[in-house]
Amino acid sequence: MTDAVKRIVVFASGGGSNFNRIHERILDGTIKGEIVLLISNNPEAGAVAYARKNGIKTAVINRTRYPETEGYNDAYHQLIDPLKPDLLVLAGFMKLIPASVVARYSRRIMNIHPALLPGFGGKGYYGLKVHRAVLASGVKLTGVTVHFVDEEYDRGPIAAQRAVPVLPGDTAESIAARVLIQEHQIYPDVVAAFCEDRIYWQDDKAYIKDQA
Ligand code: GRF
Repeated sequence: MTDAVKRIVVFASGGGSNFNRIHERILDGTIKGEIVLLISNNPEAGAVAYARKNGIKTAVINRTRYPETEGYNDAYHQLIDPLKPDLLVLAGFMKLIPASVVARYSRRIMNIHPALLPGFGGKGYYGLKVHRAVLASGVKLTGVTVHFVDEEYDRGPIAAQRAVPVLPGDTAESIAARVLIQEHQIYPDVVAAFCEDRIYWQDDKAYIKDQA
């Protein structure tokens, strides 16, 4: 384990509850990291408000300011690269990360998805749509996946998963609420593991050392 505090860039489009939890775990000392920037595509996002309130630098990248052209990719690099981050954390970020960023930060970009991947993921599976699809399928277990990011939505090596039961009478909303409770534990735990150099790779698969 190295003593250096890891430099983290967080990406969030929405309320940012996962971002809040990760930040709280940094403040209580159980994540050896520092959030050096919060990037959002939505200036109205709760995540942006939280960052401002907590003295975390923010930046907004969106389609209006940066159309998805070559320049759009450059905007990501111009924001991120000078910060020399160790880890990019996607916490409810609704945009695809450009391939050039994925290539540069290979094995250093994480995402959280509110289902057990590779099921119920990919383009179009976000928010309550995920849980509606879970309910419609009749599966009895859903859950949370934290994975490393590649060029496709919700693909890439899985770091950790946690199962959540689907119960009689469940709605998409009730599943979402139960899943979110697990998200708030597993995501900070995986980020903590990364920051302590406890994630290792074998045959292109990620594993966590000393996982509780
Ligand atoms: C979470 O359900 C996460 O799994 C998904 O987007 C949602 C973000 O929630 N990727 P929040 O903004 O962290 O509250």
